[in-house]
Amino acid sequence: MKGIILAGGFGTRLYPLTKSVSKQLLPINDKPMIFYPLSILMLSGIKDILIITSPRDKPSFMSLLGNGENLGISIEYIEQNEPKGIADAFLLGSNFIKDDSVTLILGDNLFFGYDLVSTFKNAIKDLKKATIFAYPVNNPSDYGVVELDKNNEVINIEEKPENPSSRYAVTGIYMYDNSILDIAKSIKPSERGELEITDVNKVYLDKNHLDAVIFGRGVAWLDTGSHQSLLEAGNFVNIIEKRQGFKIACLEEIAWRNKWISSEKLLEIAEPLKKSGYGNYLIDIVNQNND
Ligand code: TTP
Repeated sequence: MKGIILAGGFGTRLYPLTKSVSKQLLPINDKPMIFYPLSILMLSGIKDILIITSPRDKPSFMSLLGNGENLGISIEYIEQNEPKGIADAFLLGSNFIKDDSVTLILGDNLFFGYDLVSTFKNAIKDLKKATIFAYPVNNPSDYGVVELDKNNEVINIEEKPENPSSRYAVTGIYMYDNSILDIAKSIKPSERGELEITDVNKVYLDKNHLDAVIFGRGVAWLDTGSHQSLLEAGNFVNIIEKRQGFKIACLEEIAWRNKWISSEKLLEIAEPLKKSGYGNYLIDIVNQNND
């Protein structure tokens, strides 16, 4: 299973914040936004990762994350010249995906909650053709909306419907088998000129190949695309981290707990980060483990 993070876009709803820097590099509490989707891929056990960015921001992402070696993973980068739609990720990423399956996560999506990691791991293990993840929201019209029958089989899927058939929004993480490469090639841009992920999902649905996993109330799926939601996401992470003493989406910790990097490596990474407290956190988790 390969992983793609789609982290391009203009971030116009965050102007002027994003006039000169990618939304996905802005802080959510104590770390850049992209750490959160990257953490989800790593927690799910995915080590081969492609980050899609705008040409302007590619050097910044590369200086932040490098080739992934420090995290015991492989990170490649590719540019998306303009935001042509979420499904463009599979055209851009076809040489990276090769003959594998792929999980796509949007660079501005933050997931947190009970049993999340085993949900994703099981979904990867059980992946047949395509799996989407749905979450109940108050404002379904702002999203792709999925209608389910009483056995949670997908009946219908619609992009930003005026009269939504359910409260279940399609979240920004998607898993596909290798047929995604042909399907992405086959879809046409929508009226707004984008290659819509909903159109991809409809192709799978028409063949009866679309599975949906429903997140329960114990999961938080947060939006980070507006000034208000960005602040709220930061506050959310701050409250949980302060209360528990555990960090959310601490990539170095995840790599270490996955045994992808050694304790020595973690301590080496921690050293220059000590002044912010982030480094001390990493040192503490190694020491606690040795107690
Ligand atoms: P959006 O929120 O649709 O777009 P945006 O981030 O550019 O924001 P705005 O509406 O404020 O202009 O994108 C959702 C996520 O997907 C975000 O992380 C950016 C990413 N994205 C791309 O990288 N390329 C694309 O072509 C699209 C449509 C989205």
